[in-house]
Amino acid sequence: MSKALRDAVARRRVCQWWDHVRPAPKDPIASVGEAFLADASPNKINLGVGAYRDEEGKPVVLRCVRNAEAKVAGSEFLESISTSANSRLVEESIKLVYGKDTDVIGEGRLAGIQTLSGTGACRLFAEFQRRFYPRSKVYFPDPTWSNHHSIWKDAEVPQGTFSYYNPRSKGLNFPALIDDIKNAPESSFFLLHPCAHNPTGVDPTEEEWREISYHLKVKNHFPFFDMAYQGFSSGDLDRDARAIRTFLQDGHLIGCAQSFAKNMGLYGHRVGCLSILCTDTMQALAVKSQLQQIARAMYGSPPIRGVLLVSTILGDPDTKALWVEELKAMVNRICKMREALRESLEKLGSPLNWEHITNQVGMFCFSGLTPRQIELLQREFHIYMTADGRISMAGVTMSNMDYLANAIHEVTKSGQES
Ligand SMILES: Cc1ncc(COP(=O)(O)O)c(C=O)c1O
Repeated sequence: MSKALRDAVARRRVCQWWDHVRPAPKDPIASVGEAFLADASPNKINLGVGAYRDEEGKPVVLRCVRNAEAKVAGSEFLESISTSANSRLVEESIKLVYGKDTDVIGEGRLAGIQTLSGTGACRLFAEFQRRFYPRSKVYFPDPTWSNHHSIWKDAEVPQGTFSYYNPRSKGLNFPALIDDIKNAPESSFFLLHPCAHNPTGVDPTEEEWREISYHLKVKNHFPFFDMAYQGFSSGDLDRDARAIRTFLQDGHLIGCAQSFAKNMGLYGHRVGCLSILCTDTMQALAVKSQLQQIARAMYGSPPIRGVLLVSTILGDPDTKALWVEELKAMVNRICKMREALRESLEKLGSPLNWEHITNQVGMFCFSGLTPRQIELLQREFHIYMTADGRISMAGVTMSNMDYLANAIHEVTKSGQES
């Protein structure tokens, strides 16, 4: 072949492979961060980020993580330890959710697999659901973490929502929630946030969980728990798992996605676990083998370093005790910020009721601010939050408290119902 011919072909425009690709819509959470970064104001505040920040607004590396790093230093290169670290991670994660003394562990009824954080656990389960129940719908609380919709959509699972939040009371719409459980087609999937609901910060009471469990069981629905914030509701890991343990007592089969991104501050390491409670050991082995096969084709296996860190923290009693202490300290700081923000708004003479700031739990406050007020906060005061009015309380500090409270007061003081 002549060079001239090769050059002519090289110059020719290849067929329009990607001409039809349009930019994807911006992620509602990531775009808040981008707008914040682009703002040059020294007063700017980022209330969009769903990860813990200290009293100076800085990301935190927990001391338990530093201890674990020292213990595992160098070992991440030893291929042979990865399998044992994976199974230790799964074993310890399962104890954290279902309780260390639960019978279902000894009975071998849990199929557990390490995942790419909570998102990976949800994605894996969505794929598993599509494989074995392609026509069953998954129902999400309204509202829910926006990515739930995208994850199950990409897995091509049909989806619906069930009533959850009542904008008037800024609490749970319990009667409507129960009605929606009753009205969903028999044997549907229900995604539940067992604690620290994102974005509303509204959790059912223990009694309400018992009723939810009862009605799901009556309709043979499958409860799938997305546990992204264990410890962040109450500061107590067991207490935050109480909903799941109620379901366990009620004889449900359960799915659970766990993340260590927030409660261990390990967002960048992507450590999580997916567990599915089965009828017996044989079923658990079959389910686990399917999960492993899906994961293998999707991404092989997750990186080992985060697994080593989490399994070391959970497996070493002293390091675990330190984690529990540090987790409590994070939650206490957030609770203090809730109290201080509510008090500041009340002191400013706000005509609105701000009780929900302290009634809601976890990392977020579903402020009830209107789209116009959110826009004003961003434009006039350089305060950034998601368009649904979700405030990450982790972004609130004593240093930005007065500025924030004044700004919220300024945009809401006309008394217009927020
Ligand atoms: C409800 C919920 N589930 C899952 C996740 C996923 O967390 P990650 O993948 O970072 O562990 C998040 C993160 O914001 C969340 O809020």
